[in-house]
Amino acid sequence: MSLDVPALPDASAAEALRADLSTWTVDAVEAVVGDRAMRALAREQVLPARVASRASSTVEATLTRLFLLGDAVPARDVDRALPSVGADGAAGLGLIELSGGEARGRVDLRPYAATHEGGEAQWWVASDQGEAVTGARLRDDHVLGIGGASLTLAGMTMRAPVGRVLDLGTGCGIQALHASLHAREVVATDVSRRALAYTRFNQVLNGIADWDLREGSMLEPVAGEEFDLVVSNPPFVITPEGAPQFEYRASGVPGDGIVSTLVSSVGTVLAPGGVAQMLGNWEIHGGSSWQEGLEAWLAASPVPLDAWVIERDELDAAEYAETWLRDAGVTPERGRAEFEAAYQAYLTDFDARGVSAVGFGMVLLRRPVSGSPTLRRLEQHEGPLQEPFGGYLVAALAAHDRVAAMTDDALLATAWTAASDVTRESYGPVLQADPSYLLLRQGAGLGRSVSMDTALAGFVGACDGELTAGQIAHALAALLDVDAARMVAGLVPAVRELVADGFLE
Ligand SMILES: C[S@@+](CC[C@H](N)C(=O)[O-])C[C@H]1O[C@@H](n2cnc3c(N)ncnc32)[C@H](O)[C@@H]1O
Repeated sequence: MSLDVPALPDASAAEALRADLSTWTVDAVEAVVGDRAMRALAREQVLPARVASRASSTVEATLTRLFLLGDAVPARDVDRALPSVGADGAAGLGLIELSGGEARGRVDLRPYAATHEGGEAQWWVASDQGEAVTGARLRDDHVLGIGGASLTLAGMTMRAPVGRVLDLGTGCGIQALHASLHAREVVATDVSRRALAYTRFNQVLNGIADWDLREGSMLEPVAGEEFDLVVSNPPFVITPEGAPQFEYRASGVPGDGIVSTLVSSVGTVLAPGGVAQMLGNWEIHGGSSWQEGLEAWLAASPVPLDAWVIERDELDAAEYAETWLRDAGVTPERGRAEFEAAYQAYLTDFDARGVSAVGFGMVLLRRPVSGSPTLRRLEQHEGPLQEPFGGYLVAALAAHDRVAAMTDDALLATAWTAASDVTRESYGPVLQADPSYLLLRQGAGLGRSVSMDTALAGFVGACDGELTAGQIAHALAALLDVDAARMVAGLVPAVRELVADGFLE
């Protein structure tokens, strides 16, 4: 049976297509459609971009109309825009269809740029066309293009040079593309043959050395292997029976089972020191906290792992149902009966299983190189994230590891410096001489704040890289007239946390 995906070009056809597309960059698309239309595209509204691009006759405008906006364009314009491949060649590859002298895109193809240490990578990424372009409901085996979650995962991935990377649930291959910039070997898996065909197309189109693509569910295609980095934007959308089931977002596993299984089992394919980074939803049951659920998943891992989970958002059951029904194009305006039946299915399922809310967040797991895990952090952060967040995570893990490996004596023998983004805030009644609250606040990272007592405030205020922590502690003990040993014992754990969190460097 035909997969209804683009045909795989041979190396010379791929090179010709790349040459034809070479001026069609992210910047070129912006230049064609303008800011207003770019913002509308981010809201999945194509009309402003169609209007703007129809007013231009450049080859970049033609390519934008054809591949990004699903607009019909004269076939002779396609010959001009793709001089090596031509309209017939593009039709032969299944990228467009020709009818009565007109061409129309059959796939979503778009330029995509990524900055990395060596500069900027420029790729073209093909996937199925979205509903905004076709106006039709997505097929159940729709292959997702680059979406918000794809970009979140790509942005949070730690980009140190690595050996083997696994992209689990690769879709159109966007994470594999990123991984190809810093990995020796990329393995990408998916249950969807259509997704794997798009991934292969995108790898060949972009002239990237071979990826090892494997069909199969979850860790089954890679069982017994080890990876230095696993990235996954899994199909985490909780989808009860009666709600829309799309392969790209719903796994078919009830509740949040796909994410729990991944968290509990990914350690089995991590090399020592290997890291898994993924996105996910987690159910929050009755009176328990979101952390309790995650702790149980982590406890079920046969491989003890460092864990850092950042919950970004929490929705109650009704909000969750509305969000994901709207995402599936199921709205009361389009069909009240279908919307209400699916909405009811969500509420019935959540109520029956005691799900009061659903969390969304980022999970970072790491297999220790040796010994036991030292990191267990489950925190909430709803605000904006420092960009690139992956770079922040690299630095934060390095700080954690450094301080975890330090003895108390070594910590006290070090001259720490307060980080340049850290400010001190004090609060209290105007007429009160001493403030009631002293806070340290980070400008970068997760913008954390820490409340301090007088001793800690005095300590941090003296961390200018000249005096060691031990010297400052003793000076403070004398100044505040407290026992030096008690002062040191009280400060050491606080200093450990401040260093691990990036307040002190
Ligand atoms: C949300 S998409 C992510 C695509 C892409 N990695 C990204 O970041 O945009 C999830 C992908 O997981 C795949 N998938 C669904 N069930 C799976 C399973 N049980 N095992 C592996 N992949 C699965 C889907 O076909 C889809 O391509």
